[in-house]
Amino acid sequence: MGLLKLAFICVLASVIAAAAAAEDVTVYVDPFIGTEGPTGNGANSGDTFPGVSVPFGMVKIGPDTNEADQASNPFAGYTPDGNVTAFTCFHECGVGGGSKYGVVGHMPLTTLDGVNVLDNTTYMQPRVGHDRASVGYYASQLANGANVELSASQHAGFFQYNYPSHGDRIVLADVSHNLPSGIDAEFPKSQTYSNGQMIVQNGGQRFVGWGVWRGGWGGGGVAYGEGSDMQVYFCNDFDSIPSSFEYFTGPWNDPTSPPSPDTQVTLGGQYGVQGGPVGDDQGNRVGAYFIFPNHVDTVKSKLGVSFISIDKACKFQEEIPSWTLNDTVEATKEQWNKEVFDKMSINDKADKANNTRLTMFYSALYRMHQMPSDRTGENPKWSSSEPYYDDFYTLWDTFRCLNSWYLLAHTQRALDMLRSLVDTWRHEGYMPDARSGNYNGKVQGGTNADIVLADAWVKGFNSSRYGINWSDAYAAMQKDAEVTPKPNHDPDDPTCANKEGRCALPDWLEYSYITPNFSLSVSRTVDYSLNDFAISQVAKDMAPQDYEKYFKRSA
Ligand SMILES: *[C@@H]1O[C@H](CO)[C@@H](O)[C@H](O)[C@H]1NC(C)=O
Ligand SMILES: *[C@@H]1O[C@H](CO)[C@@H](O)[C@H](O)[C@H]1NC(C)=O
Ligand SMILES: *[C@@H]1O[C@H](CO)[C@@H](O)[C@H](O)[C@H]1NC(C)=O
Ligand SMILES: *[C@@H]1O[C@H](CO)[C@@H](O)[C@H](O)[C@H]1NC(C)=O
Ligand SMILES: *[C@@H]1O[C@H](CO)[C@@H](O)[C@H](O)[C@H]1NC(C)=O
Ligand SMILES: *[C@@H]1O[C@H](CO)[C@@H](O)[C@H](O)[C@H]1NC(C)=O
Ligand SMILES: *[C@@H]1O[C@H](CO)[C@@H](O)[C@H](O)[C@H]1NC(C)=O
Repeated sequence: MGLLKLAFICVLASVIAAAAAAEDVTVYVDPFIGTEGPTGNGANSGDTFPGVSVPFGMVKIGPDTNEADQASNPFAGYTPDGNVTAFTCFHECGVGGGSKYGVVGHMPLTTLDGVNVLDNTTYMQPRVGHDRASVGYYASQLANGANVELSASQHAGFFQYNYPSHGDRIVLADVSHNLPSGIDAEFPKSQTYSNGQMIVQNGGQRFVGWGVWRGGWGGGGVAYGEGSDMQVYFCNDFDSIPSSFEYFTGPWNDPTSPPSPDTQVTLGGQYGVQGGPVGDDQGNRVGAYFIFPNHVDTVKSKLGVSFISIDKACKFQEEIPSWTLNDTVEATKEQWNKEVFDKMSINDKADKANNTRLTMFYSALYRMHQMPSDRTGENPKWSSSEPYYDDFYTLWDTFRCLNSWYLLAHTQRALDMLRSLVDTWRHEGYMPDARSGNYNGKVQGGTNADIVLADAWVKGFNSSRYGINWSDAYAAMQKDAEVTPKPNHDPDDPTCANKEGRCALPDWLEYSYITPNFSLSVSRTVDYSLNDFAISQVAKDMAPQDYEKYFKRSA
């Protein structure tokens, strides 16, 4: 009897275990939640990114669109109603304030009739029906008949274009492409292409090169001074050899002006094109298009990207060993399950039985792990053995809950993020309050890295055993609390330096509140108070002589 019962329990337990293993909760993730506003376009949406990435992935592959009447910025690349001009590797998720990225990728075309490759309005494509997306997978049906499918690994994208039987099989790779700035086009924070290079190799089966972009949200163009340039290297392999390819180069959208003679470059004996001398402010647009033979119905490509070198970009293609799209989709899904979804289970019966709740829960959980981007080993600004994270976009949005969640559920990543914040102070003088494109910028109110560090400290990650150099971390917090940042001449806010640090410190130190001489004076007062309280909690054990000071300042 006892044995029988035991056997029964064992059988039951294994059935439950098998059922649990078979349940793929990624089916509940709807990547389109947050992409659409109440008027059916991107305006007042959550600007979420529906494309593909692994958790904290560097590559976030998806479409880049424009918007009718420039209703909003396509901050995350995708808008429900816009036309597609490219599918690219870099995007943000859930952001606002000037488009960033939308760089390195290509666009499938079925004809060159009427196309001026220097002018994206001559080849942009409406979409037929709604795009489709699930964890690890994205698909778009273009009006020209091309069916687009995408997937991604940490540093590489997979593109698959299925062409209609009529028409040509063309892939256009415009290095000079980036996300349009839409309603922010006139603002100094709009992003611009600066220069680029395109070199075709292996009879057209491979192309490599780099692009430089500047400005965009947070790291803003000439008005913000030096340092915001972002250079990305790329290496793309097609699965078959095109029957022909053609470079193009020219100033902006003007097809009539001839390319300047300095646009030809060589690399390893191969000729290519470059937008102008390196460092040139506004180089010519550059790119190439590839025409595949008519018997090729499907063109696939693996595109590796790197902030360090072309060689690294080529190497990153190895993250995608197979030419079968589904293999990458499954691998990416697996990574999400392992790192994110398997860590959670739902016990409440009513929740479990309610698809709406499951969708809300798993879709939100998914969103929580798209940024910041893990760029460890991919930091072009300084060399260091510390982890490197970018796209803290922004700590003022995430310090209350999300960073604490990382500490709880993704402890190693959370600590790595903190080390990256401290390393940024070590090499650039301040921790970021927001950072994107390897550039600190900007600050909304206070300096919230202080809080994220203190959160880890009070939860017991308070020794170098956890990899954080706490004397440096404390010095970085003190820098926020004591040293007013240099003016950064943001035309949107002449009252306050807002790249990093606390611009209104002079008032804070003199009056213990912020006067209206500085923007956001009330909220900054509250922020600085909480920041100083956070520092006092670390000081209590780290630097007892400072505890009183920061605790009193927080009052
Ligand atoms: C998209 O393309 C279609 C067809 O070329 C055009 O009629 C429409 O105005 C375009 N929409 C936008 C937002 O550019
Ligand atoms: C088209 O190209 C121009 C010039 O580079 C750029 O300003 C604009 O943002 C692009 N539009 C789209 C939708 O990609
Ligand atoms: C993708 O691969 C998975 C796992 O091997 C398989 O279950 C699924 O049917 C495949 N999907 C397609 C569209 O081939
Ligand atoms: C399912 O959950 C949603 C969201 O909480 C709720 O509005 C709805 O009433 C629930 N449905 C049932 C049958 O409980
Ligand atoms: C670190 O945290 C632990 C656990 O909260 C605590 O016992 C210990 O005293 C703390 N050490 C320091 C140096 O603050
Ligand atoms: C922290 O970093 C500093 C240099 O920035 C170094 O002098 C110190 O030894 C480090 N402390 C620990 C515990 O690693
Ligand atoms: C505000 O700025 C003005 C002009 O610099 C200065 O005269 C004034 O004293 C400042 N107000 C306070 C309260 O510091």
